Amino acid sequence: MIKSLYIHSMRGAKRIAGRLGILQALERSDSRGARWTRSLFSIYDSRDLALLDLPWWTFDAIREVEQLLASFDNQARVFEYGAGASTLWLSKRCAEVISVEHDIGFADSMAPLFSSCPNVNVLTVPDVPATGATTEARSRRRGYEDRAFDAYVDAISSQEGMFDLIVIDGRARTACLARAAQRLSPRGLILFDNSERKEYRAAIDSSPFVERRLRGLAPALPLPSQTSLLEQRS
Ligand SMILES: C[S@@+](CC[C@H](N)C(=O)[O-])C[C@H]1O[C@@H](n2cnc3c(N)ncnc32)[C@H](O)[C@@H]1O
Repeated sequence: MIKSLYIHSMRGAKRIAGRLGILQALERSDSRGARWTRSLFSIYDSRDLALLDLPWWTFDAIREVEQLLASFDNQARVFEYGAGASTLWLSKRCAEVISVEHDIGFADSMAPLFSSCPNVNVLTVPDVPATGATTEARSRRRGYEDRAFDAYVDAISSQEGMFDLIVIDGRARTACLARAAQRLSPRGLILFDNSERKEYRAAIDSSPFVERRLRGLAPALPLPSQTSLLEQRS
């Protein structure tokens, strides 16, 4: 209720800020503060975040990932769980982005943007009713308790080779992490978003990776968030 009121208010505020030239003034600035303030008007508007060239991770994580991709001369291969503005941001900085999305309606709404990027391949793999089998990958998100995401998690298995960046920002994240661990290149990184959530802690702590927690402001979010970067132990 409070969340939907906030979203509604920000959309109203965006119209007013546009008329007053505030959005345009913010868009002319490169400062993090201006970019974050502008992004607050784009809450749950992935098309707008894409136009602002902002993935939905913390700003510190965005900076680190940008540096990593530059170190690969922008030739990295990326696999992403959970498509969105990040998919388009990555496409400008990588050789290839394969993204898996469970929500067909959301993927369709973003399709004109995705199809304008020749190096992007979005696989739509919807969740299915859970049957209670022990191998099922599940999401704890409200409304998804009775759904299974095995095919979604397994989407990486149908792809050849290793990935230099694997983004875990969609559904069934702990199952995605277990699968991603086998497909990371030696110098690669796993980006695990919203790693402050309790339900992810045990899986991250027991993974074979070294974790760096990047806590702070993130685009479109009024409160700080946390994105973790996981790398291979040396
Ligand atoms: C946290 S979002 C992924 C965001 C994406 N990785 C990014 O940084 O832009 C996780 C899921 O939320 C859904 N989603 C993303 N943006 C949405 C929006 N604007 N409205 C509704 N659902 C959205 C999609 O199903 C997506 O896989």
